[in-house]
Amino acid sequence: MGRVIIYGGTGGIGLATAAALRARGYALHLAAREGDRLSEAAERLGETTFSAGDIADPAFFPAATEEAGPDLAGLVYAVGTINLRPLGRLTRADVETDFRINALGAFSAVQAAAGALKRGGGEAGAGIVLFSTVAVAQGFAAHASVAMAKGAVEGLALSLAAELAPQIRVNVVAPSLTRTPLAAAITGNETLAQGIAAMHAIPRLGRPEDVGALAAFLVSDEAAWITGQVIGVDGGRSNLRTKG
Ligand SMILES: NC(=O)c1ccc[n+]([C@@H]2O[C@H](COP(=O)([O-])OP(=O)(O)OC[C@H]3O[C@@H](n4cnc5c(N)ncnc54)[C@H](OP(=O)(O)O)[C@@H]3O)[C@@H](O)[C@H]2O)c1
Repeated sequence: MGRVIIYGGTGGIGLATAAALRARGYALHLAAREGDRLSEAAERLGETTFSAGDIADPAFFPAATEEAGPDLAGLVYAVGTINLRPLGRLTRADVETDFRINALGAFSAVQAAAGALKRGGGEAGAGIVLFSTVAVAQGFAAHASVAMAKGAVEGLALSLAAELAPQIRVNVVAPSLTRTPLAAAITGNETLAQGIAAMHAIPRLGRPEDVGALAAFLVSDEAAWITGQVIGVDGGRSNLRTKG
């Protein structure tokens, strides 16, 4: 089985995806900023190499891809932002940062790896997974900037799914609020967290494993006939109402 490159592979969802891919037998290459956390994760997961760097640096993408090796079975881009502000408090810099980290980062990661993915996919094709948010399918106040950036990720994924077929499949996972370091500013307030949990038809917040399980499935050969899809892991938040 081949190697999968995971940007943000030490984060909540990235690490859960990494563990689910290792359980399926894939080797991994993790990419993130903090070297200590990368080497700890690599040791714990086994069959895992890594590159330390910042996605703000365009040179990081070709460097990490080269270090991952000449053939790749998949790519997961699990870096993102949750910057929730009402319109009047959003700056152009906020919007540019959200776009750069979520959309431009995903674009650069895929562009750098496309050759290796074409070579490494085998019969089922290589699997790319990008992350959106429930806040694209469903409008939420104070989500304008992140929803714009993640909407761009969905557009990128659909375009590339058409362009790169059949050698490479491209899918998107759209989670609702999930307990990870990224969401800690919200989930750290238990009253707020419980209030948000109660808005889901399945009334709890997401666990990284809920999201990682689908991401790993979409990378794998089991998803050989699935491409160009945006799939929610959201306890029903994007499309269900249980009251009123
Ligand atoms: N958690 C949620 O509620 C939620 C909801 C909807 C969508 N999502 C999406 O799910 C994906 C994963 O999010 P998460 O919650 O798992 O985030 P997380 O726990 O904060 O993990 C982020 C990962 O990205 C790495 N990273 C952050 N900034 C980086 C940079 N500039 N350069 C390189 N690596 C960087 C982090 O490691 P270092 O800090 O060491 O670099 C870490 O490995 C994101 O796309 C996010 O937008 C999350």
